[in-house]
Amino acid sequence: MIIPKADRLQHVQEYYFSRKLAEVRALQAQGKSIINLGIGSPDMAPSPATVEALTQSAQQATTHGYQPYNGTAKLRQAMQQWYQQLYKVELKEQEVLPLAGSKEGIFHISMAFLNPGDKILIPNPGYPAYAAAAKLAGAEAVTYTLDEANGWLPQREELEKLVAQGGVKLMWINYPHMPTGTAATAEMFEWLIAFTQQHGLLLINDNPYSLVLHQQAPLSLLSIARAKENCLELNSLSKSHNMAGWRVGMVLGQREYLAAILAVKSNLDSGQLLPIQEATIAALQNSNSWHSARNAVYAERQQLAHLLLEELGCTFQLNQIGMFVWAKVPQEVSNVEAYLDELLYEQGIFLTPGKIFGSQGERYLRVSLCAPAEQLQEAINRIKLSKETLTKV
Ligand SMILES: Cc1ncc(COP(=O)(O)O)c(C=O)c1O
Repeated sequence: MIIPKADRLQHVQEYYFSRKLAEVRALQAQGKSIINLGIGSPDMAPSPATVEALTQSAQQATTHGYQPYNGTAKLRQAMQQWYQQLYKVELKEQEVLPLAGSKEGIFHISMAFLNPGDKILIPNPGYPAYAAAAKLAGAEAVTYTLDEANGWLPQREELEKLVAQGGVKLMWINYPHMPTGTAATAEMFEWLIAFTQQHGLLLINDNPYSLVLHQQAPLSLLSIARAKENCLELNSLSKSHNMAGWRVGMVLGQREYLAAILAVKSNLDSGQLLPIQEATIAALQNSNSWHSARNAVYAERQQLAHLLLEELGCTFQLNQIGMFVWAKVPQEVSNVEAYLDELLYEQGIFLTPGKIFGSQGERYLRVSLCAPAEQLQEAINRIKLSKETLTKV
């Protein structure tokens, strides 16, 4: 007997990486050496002070119970100070809500603000979780187009047309943008805030990459005048502090909005383990030199990723922000997915097809910088060796 699944799962598939990494593991189990340049999970350690705070705290008998649903006051204050120092954004303690990663925030926000039948605007290409969370809430995801010709930035004319169709309640932006590595500009944030206020939309910036290989001072949507009226920002320690597995993030914005999110969250989890919260406080105090050292490692890997992409005949922009390089596959490749599968099965190199981020990513691929330089070099060597035999599918 098979009990049918809920209707809401009809349009939601298992996450791409959940499926594809199982395939990668199966190849590894057969003894194949696979260079995984797929997922963006940092392979470097958090700062020593972070790990020390975790272990110190975990040794106490009193740190293992349930915790406040909205985190400890000390954690909220540490996040508040971090935003003040880094992004020059003044927040009250009630304008900070710690989360178990920003991905859960995407789900909570969708549950807190969307009714069945509502529409949301999401970037194409963009992080797949925005659409999945909206669908689970019974809402419809409508894509706006980002493309190379427009510098991967939203276009006002298109947004006007989409909103004119009616029913749009919320808009997601994600700058610095994943997967294209595009930086935000204050000017873009300004017109987006004016636009969304004019149309009564909630605007959310998902901002987990602003400390990775950035060239200018990190920018927050909330640093723009009047942003708090209709904007929220998600942030995360996953990438910026090498803490992806720890599941620590935050949502920031007006307290009324956070209260709605907490109404969802407090019914799902029972607070974050106290040692993780205490270690997060330590992590948020990582020095500038700690961040620079991490970025120096990524910068070296970025150079190697560029060499790898040149070997593959791909074109790409230099100086992308974040821990990926987004690149266009050569014109003669007719089927990008088959081409990447050939790279995986023949050369043992796993790269992410751009189309998992939307139709605008169809001619692109994404290389993760979360692998040691030696592995990137090995990938380059494998391509060089195989170049004569690699058939373009
Ligand atoms: C754009 C974007 N948002 C959110 C996340 C999720 O981050 P977290 O680990 O904080 O849940 C990712 C992770 O890959 C991401 O790329």
